[in-house]
Amino acid sequence: MEQLTLHQTEVLIGEGLPDPLLPDRPGRSRVAILTQPAPTDIALGISGRLELQGLTTEVIGLPDREESKTLEVASSVYDVLSRFGLARTDTVVSVGGGSVSDLGGFVAGTWMRGVESVVVPTTLLGAVDASIGGKTGINVAGKNLVGVFWHPSRVAIDTAQIRKLPSFLIRDGMSESFKAGLIGDPELVDRIASEHLDTDLDFTIRRAIGVKTRIVASDALEVGERAHLNFGHTIGHALEYASTLTHGQAVSLGMVAASRISSKTLGFSSEDLVRGTLSALGLPVTVEGLNKDRVLNLLRRDKKRDAEGLRMVLLSEVGRPVLQHVSAEDVDEGLAAVGF
Ligand SMILES: NC(=O)c1ccc[n+]([C@@H]2O[C@H](COP(=O)([O-])OP(=O)(O)OC[C@H]3O[C@@H](n4cnc5c(N)ncnc54)[C@H](O)[C@@H]3O)[C@@H](O)[C@H]2O)c1
Ligand SMILES: [Zn+2]
Repeated sequence: MEQLTLHQTEVLIGEGLPDPLLPDRPGRSRVAILTQPAPTDIALGISGRLELQGLTTEVIGLPDREESKTLEVASSVYDVLSRFGLARTDTVVSVGGGSVSDLGGFVAGTWMRGVESVVVPTTLLGAVDASIGGKTGINVAGKNLVGVFWHPSRVAIDTAQIRKLPSFLIRDGMSESFKAGLIGDPELVDRIASEHLDTDLDFTIRRAIGVKTRIVASDALEVGERAHLNFGHTIGHALEYASTLTHGQAVSLGMVAASRISSKTLGFSSEDLVRGTLSALGLPVTVEGLNKDRVLNLLRRDKKRDAEGLRMVLLSEVGRPVLQHVSAEDVDEGLAAVGF
């Protein structure tokens, strides 16, 4: 079992879950386990193991995907925690994809002004991205607009379980893993560029998490370098909201667009490698049937826009991200690269 540490978070990566699953904590007697439909069996297994250790558990089923990230769902979970008697010394465990850890982390960070959060990510995207870095959130008035920074005490990743995921979930997570390589790990890029979906998942998870923990450790509250994690996400998010694309698919298109803008403005020489690798991973590199004006309107609301206009993360070379302003013509050229 490999261990990385970020802030107060131990990230444990291995075949199977660690035993005991939870870090030592005096006074803990109750554990609420939040989950979504697909990984419910994993949550029940965890519940059984914790009960054998003498803890009292409550498994709380959430709706699937973004439907769990609402104030109504948070409120219904608070009701259950209240009936269950979850106290300051107790623990909330989130078992599932990024939507469970976003909602579960938010509930943990706000219940009684904050109780211990432990995350067991069961998707590749959750493992390499959503569970790491302490951002939690729900969708109120817009995606992730309400949330708290709340670091889990432990993130436990079972690589054997992740390996068994359906391929569309692996592709989605590979999109973010490739992004991690592009902004901070050229060796990870080389591996994924040559081995595609055959790239060893343990290696991918460790290295992608390595990039994220390094960046988050240097800028926990996103005042500087942490913005680099948004490579591919400016245009990606706009495409995601304007379509039914998954997050990983939208980020793939966003990375193709950002790579084109990077070639044009910074002389980035690996645009073809980015496009070719994403395509070989089975991720989209062009899109049809979307309304360009709608996408441009969404870009006008981007959080990284300032008085001087839209800012995007670009690459001067693999492993060298830069946050800079882009012109309307640059954005046009980026969108043209994905078929607009
Ligand atoms: N907080 C952060 O830093 C951060 C970073 C990236 C993404 N996110 C959030 O993460 C979410 C996306 O993550 P995701 O794709 O993991 O989300 P998700 O929770 O929506 O999961 C995607 C799908 O995987 C299924 N699934 C989960 N475990 C499974 C298993 N063991 N077997 C089969 N299917 C399984 C789920 O049921 C769901 O249908 C978004 O809400 C996004 O905003 C947060
Ligand atoms: Zn993302």
